[in-house]
Amino acid sequence: MDRIAITGGARLEGVIPISGAKNSAIKLMAASLLTEEPLRLTNMPRLADTRFLGKLLKRLGAEVVEADGPDGPETVLTTKEIVSGFAPYDLVRQMRASFNVLGPLLARSGQAKVSLPGGCSIGARPVDLHLKSLEALGARIDLHEGYVYAQAPRGLKGAEITFPFNSVGATEHALLAAVLAEGDTVLHNAAAEPEMADLADCLNAMGAKVSGAGTRTIHIRGVSRLGGATHAVIPDRIETGTYAVAAAMAGGEVRLTRTRSDFIQTLIDKLVEAGVEVVTHDDGLTVKRNGGRLRAVEITTDPYPGFATDLQAQFMALMTLAEGESVFRETIFENRFMHVPELGRLGADITVHGGEARVRGVEALEGAQVMATDLRASVSLVIAGLAARGETMVNRVYHLDRGFERLEEKLGACGAQIRRLKGDTPEAEVE
Ligand code: UD1
Repeated sequence: MDRIAITGGARLEGVIPISGAKNSAIKLMAASLLTEEPLRLTNMPRLADTRFLGKLLKRLGAEVVEADGPDGPETVLTTKEIVSGFAPYDLVRQMRASFNVLGPLLARSGQAKVSLPGGCSIGARPVDLHLKSLEALGARIDLHEGYVYAQAPRGLKGAEITFPFNSVGATEHALLAAVLAEGDTVLHNAAAEPEMADLADCLNAMGAKVSGAGTRTIHIRGVSRLGGATHAVIPDRIETGTYAVAAAMAGGEVRLTRTRSDFIQTLIDKLVEAGVEVVTHDDGLTVKRNGGRLRAVEITTDPYPGFATDLQAQFMALMTLAEGESVFRETIFENRFMHVPELGRLGADITVHGGEARVRGVEALEGAQVMATDLRASVSLVIAGLAARGETMVNRVYHLDRGFERLEEKLGACGAQIRRLKGDTPEAEVE
C-alpha cells in the first residue's frame, strides 16, 4: 500500500496548475449515457475515481477513450447502445457516485438495476431524495436485496420537485433524468454548486434545455434525444482550496493557475480573516504568508456558496497552529471529524462534541505515523505534515489518489519535502 512521507518545515514557492473538477467530471461522464453520439470531455482529471467510473460505464456499453488533447487530458465517451442496465454492488460500493448512472440508464432505456451505495465512512448518506425525484418523474422504483429496480417503460414525465434540503447528488440525478423526460420539470430548492451549472452547460451543449442551474430553481424542458458535444470540465474548487490552505500552512508564496477564485470566495474570506494574504487573478489566485502566527477563526460548513464541507478538514489542519481557539461546525455530514484523532497524533489539541470541534492552537506539531481515513481527511494530514517538525508518514494514501492528481508532484515542485513510498494498492473504498 502506498504511503506518503513529508518532512515538515519547507516553505512553498512556485506555481500549481489546478486540474479539472473530480466531482464534475464523474457526473459528466455519467451524462454520456444519455446519447449514442460521442461526448468529448476536455480538462479531465486523471484520478482513481474517473478510471473507476470508466470501468463501470464500459460494462454498461460505453466506449471510453483517453487521450492527450491540445489543452491537456481528455476523454471521449461513446455509448452507441446500452448493453446492460445493471450496476453491481461491487462497483457501486467502491464509489458512491456510481449510483448516478441510475437516472441516465432509466432515461435512455427505460430500466435499470443499480446497487444501493450503502453507508460510508462520513455518515449514513442515504439516497432517498434521489429515488423520490425519479419516482416524481414517473419511474417505478422497487428495492430488493440491496438493489434498486427502476422502470419507466413509457418514458419519464416532467414534474415539479421540491427538495427538503440541498443535495448535490439528488439534484444532479433529477437533472440527468429530466432532460429526456416528456414535458417540463422544475427543481425547487436545488443544490447550487458550480458543478451543477457545469453539468447543465454540458447537457445544453448536447441539446438539452436547462436553465437556472447554479441557482436554487432549475427549469428543464424535456427533449426527445440528445447528441454529442465537446465540453471542458470546470476547475476543481476543492483542489484549489486545498493548495491555498497548504500554502498558508507552510508559508511562502504559491500561485494557483487554471482555476477560478470566485469558486472559493468563502474560503478566501476565512484565510484573510486568519491573517493570510490572498491576491486574485483572471486565471486563479496567489496565496502568501511570511512568518507570524495565524489567528483562530470560526467555520460553519454550508451548501455552496457557504464554506465547503470538503475543505473543512484542511482548514482544521491550518487552525491547529493558529493563535487562540477556533470552532468548526459541520452541518452537511455527521461523522466528518475522522481526521481529528489523526491530527491529535501530530500534537494538535482538538475536542469534538457532536457536530462541533474546538481547536486550541498549539506552538508546533510533531511528525508521526498517521492513517488516511477518507479523501478530504487524508489531505488534511498532508497539510499538517508540511508544517510539522520532522517526518510525517501518511498511510493508506489510495484515498488521496481518488481525488488529487499527482499531489506529491504538485507540492514537490513548490519545494515541499514530500515523497511517495510505493506499495500494493488495495481496492478503492467509498467516499
Ligand atoms: C457531494 C460531493 C461531496 C460533497 C457533498 C456536499 C460528489 C461526488 N460528492 O456528495 O464531495 O462533500 O456533495 O457538498 O459530488 N442526503 C440525504 N438523502 C439523499 C441525498 C443526500 O439525506 O437522498 C443528505 C446526505 O446524507 C448529506 C446531505 O444530504 O447529509 C448532503 O449530501 P449531498 O449534497 O447529496 O452530497 P453528495 O452528493 O453525496
